[in-house]
Amino acid sequence: CPDSQSLEEGGFSQDWFSDVMQLVMKDLNKYGVCVVDDFLGAERAEHILQEVGALHSRGVFHDGQVVSRHVQDQARGMIRGDKITWVTGSEPYCGGIGQLVSVVDSVVAKANKHPNAGKLADYNITWRTRAMVACYPGRDAHYVKHVDNPNGDGRCITAIYYINKDWTPQDGGVLRIYPEGCSDKVAEIEPRFDRMLFFWSDRRNPHEVLPAKITSRYAITVWYLDQKEREDYLARVSGASTNT
Ligand code: OGA
Ligand code: OGA
Ligand code: MN
Repeated sequence: CPDSQSLEEGGFSQDWFSDVMQLVMKDLNKYGVCVVDDFLGAERAEHILQEVGALHSRGVFHDGQVVSRHVQDQARGMIRGDKITWVTGSEPYCGGIGQLVSVVDSVVAKANKHPNAGKLADYNITWRTRAMVACYPGRDAHYVKHVDNPNGDGRCITAIYYINKDWTPQDGGVLRIYPEGCSDKVAEIEPRFDRMLFFWSDRRNPHEVLPAKITSRYAITVWYLDQKEREDYLARVSGASTNT
């Protein structure tokens, strides 16, 4: 009886949170990757897509950064062809994105503190980045094989929400993950509408975005941070800059 359930963020029930959290814990521990389809429901997903489209038309997207600041513009496009913008979710007309991020925060926080967290319990997840809204503008825009956090910058979980309606294989832009220690296996994640993806951000999951053919392949990414690793990283970085 749905009426008897108490509601949490965004009107989702405790049962809903519990189911999603169980799936995230199980799949991250077993595969290092977890896909949740029909994550928010079509109505909320549509609302988020409209907000992202509005950001895009306002022209706030810029080139995504690559690790080396000295890469030539042309070379940059060969590495990473997306256009991005960072949002907190509290900007005007970003409420749907803000709600998505709070719901994901809640799932990750609950899973992190759960008695059966398994490998997730290795982290103390206390903070995250802002949301990176990314658009691959077609013409074979892609992102070469990389690891999000190869050198301990604090990021432990990559969470990506896809909002590409009626995606078909011809649209391209599949995310291909090469899980460490499975040289013969790849995971191909199609960037489907209302699909949520979680994976370990470190060297366990090298991945690439295959060439996108559709004019706007949209995704929203949040990185969750382990407190100790982040603090150590920030101390390292500030030490390095005062030494130079
Ligand atoms: C940035 C950034 C995250 C990433 O561009 O400032 O933090 O994984 N990007 O590239
Ligand atoms: C990234 C990335 C994957 C995707 O931005 O670091 O790997 O599917 N994105 O958009
Ligand atoms: Mn990545």
